[in-house]
Amino acid sequence: MATIELQQVEKKFGEVYAVKPMDLTIRDGEFLVLLGPSGCGKTTTLRMISGLEAVTAGRILLNGRDVTWAHPSDRDIAFVFQFFALYPHLSARQNIAFPLQAQGESRQTIDRRIKEVSQLLRIEHLLHLRPGALSGGDQQRVALARALVRRPAAFLMDEPLGALDAEFRESMRAEIKRLHLDQHATSVYVTHDQIEAMAMGDRIVVMSSAVVQQVGTPAEVYHNPRSLFVARFIGSPGMNLIPGDYADGMVNLPGGNCYPVPPIWQRSLHNQMARAGRIILGFRPEAAQISSDGPLHAEVYAADLHGSYNMLHLSLDGKDILHARASRQEHFPIGTKLRFDLHPEWVRFFNADTELAYDCEVAS
Ligand SMILES: Nc1ncnc2c1ncn2[C@@H]1O[C@H](COP(=O)(O)OP(=O)(O)OP(=O)(O)O)[C@@H](O)[C@H]1O
Ligand SMILES: [Mg+2]
Repeated sequence: MATIELQQVEKKFGEVYAVKPMDLTIRDGEFLVLLGPSGCGKTTTLRMISGLEAVTAGRILLNGRDVTWAHPSDRDIAFVFQFFALYPHLSARQNIAFPLQAQGESRQTIDRRIKEVSQLLRIEHLLHLRPGALSGGDQQRVALARALVRRPAAFLMDEPLGALDAEFRESMRAEIKRLHLDQHATSVYVTHDQIEAMAMGDRIVVMSSAVVQQVGTPAEVYHNPRSLFVARFIGSPGMNLIPGDYADGMVNLPGGNCYPVPPIWQRSLHNQMARAGRIILGFRPEAAQISSDGPLHAEVYAADLHGSYNMLHLSLDGKDILHARASRQEHFPIGTKLRFDLHPEWVRFFNADTELAYDCEVAS
């Protein structure tokens, strides 16, 4: 069991920041996901926690103990990489035994632990095979077993499913989550796939350009993104973000649309906006409600059937496209002109200059 604290931890390569000063507490038993696009500093963060990369500044505490300069082997943290670096000339059993042998464990302990972990991962029947004879998913199970068998205080995983095909990814995702629920080992999991992050994380750390953009539960980052970056990055498609002009409780939007600020937002916005001016209206596709007396009007640009619902691509002004969910039963031929409203509690507003979200007392 472990709590991991990062205090103003940063990493520079030459003059370039890979990770800007970062404060983060990873709670005991938590499954924390580091999410962000390529090059944002996820792997570097993980490597600093493990001790494989030295910090440029800041402190790392493991259960309150300062391990900033401790050797990786003194941190009791296991690392699983994207590419399962198994020893090709050793059997699965020998690969899994390796870290325990390195620790000088007895033969009996090694046998017992291998039995436990291979039952957990359902690889007992594969233990005699070498990696070359295993499928990608089974190789990754063996790699996970090798990391788990040590019973580390914490568990770091860097895109461990990245090399697997879609079907395996999904089943391994569920297995890793189940393992975590069984073992409660503090886990930090890196991915650039927001769907994976939403499905797996107790909390998600959204990073971009070496900076932590937001730390929150999947529901928080989805419903209350702190910045335009998070609003766009989370969700498939991301949040609709429409530039407009705010004045007197109204937002003027493209295509001659005029959206009255919902009553629950009026006071908050009035207090936070120094004067009338540019603003960005944000809403998720499911916040749109198609109704003949809605205040907004748009034209259907395309419609995709997603099985249980239709995803409409709407245009306010013939150019920019936004997404709205509609029921599966209704048909919206291309070119249909329709009106819609927005669920007032799901509407968000962003500062067009700082790109940060405005707060609403009642937003949830
Ligand atoms: N050893 C290094 N020397 C110089 N620059 C590095 C080194 N390692 C990483 N970087 C740079 O630091 C930044 C962050 O890299 P990092 O590998 O942490 O990103 P990442 O979020 O893991 O990306 P990806 O999703 O592609 O794995 C990148 O700009 C990268 O080029
Ligand atoms: Mg990486």
